[in-house]
Amino acid sequence: MTDKIAFITGATSGFGRAAARRFAEAGWSLVLTGRRTERLEALQGELGVPTHIVTLDVRDADAVKQAVAELPEPFRAVTCLVNNAGLALAPEKAQDVDLADWHTMIDTNCTGLVNVTHALINSLIAIGQGASIVNIGSVAGSWPYPGSHVYGATKAFVRQFSLSLRCDLLGTGVRVTDIEPGMAETEFTLVRTKGNQAASDALYGSTTPLTAEDIAEQIFYVATLPAHININRLEIMPTRQAWAGFAVDRD
Ligand SMILES: NC(=O)c1ccc[n+]([C@@H]2O[C@H](COP(=O)([O-])OP(=O)(O)OC[C@H]3O[C@@H](n4cnc5c(N)ncnc54)[C@H](OP(=O)(O)O)[C@@H]3O)[C@@H](O)[C@H]2O)c1
Repeated sequence: MTDKIAFITGATSGFGRAAARRFAEAGWSLVLTGRRTERLEALQGELGVPTHIVTLDVRDADAVKQAVAELPEPFRAVTCLVNNAGLALAPEKAQDVDLADWHTMIDTNCTGLVNVTHALINSLIAIGQGASIVNIGSVAGSWPYPGSHVYGATKAFVRQFSLSLRCDLLGTGVRVTDIEPGMAETEFTLVRTKGNQAASDALYGSTTPLTAEDIAEQIFYVATLPAHININRLEIMPTRQAWAGFAVDRD
């Protein structure tokens, strides 16, 4: 075991899986969570560092609490929590969305994130200097676009929760960062479109999106800065992405 342990939610795909590989490369021990057990097992088998896996739905507060309470002794002193599990659904207009999709985004991106934070916050405080919470927000939390509705609102929650946590954690040594990526090619669009591979390919095609590894590098960067430095927010876009102008309804 090393003395550095990262606890990553949503480690079965995208940013979370890439972050697991990045921390492992640097010799950190890992606690990896997600709902797809076979992917967690495959990742555990690939990484050459001590890795504890837990099949976990972050929406289930009791299961989250139990997973943290049952961490094997060598994995208990978590140094860095990466609150990455999340999703967007329903890219159509707000007025055409199923209410269940809105609830799923709120339950995962907001409730799930606070469930995990609550379960680990006191052990992070016990670590103190050098401990980190890295939350994965989104540019959608600051910049609205058609179809961002509740997804954007959940990521605004992540940003404000991150900033608010900093106030309460002042003096504990625990850092909090909200990483806010723009367009990055992962399974994100496949999930958002409920399996439409062509839509995913069209979005990421003919341009240069961020990669999961790009974001993993930033997660690792903020978590390994000298203990006296806290990056509050880190907004990252591909060079080939920018904002559109204001939309105007005309006669
Ligand atoms: N890709 C982008 O363009 C982009 C941009 C900005 C922000 N983000 C944010 O980045 C984070 C990671 O997304 P990604 O792009 O890496 O997408 P991804 O490839 O779809 O990965 C999402 C991860 O979240 C996990 N997850 C989803 N719901 C969960 C739940 N209820 N309980 C536990 N785990 C859950 C998934 O694991 P299981 O399905 O196995 O549970 C998966 O490992 C999300 O918070 C997303 O909102 C993405």
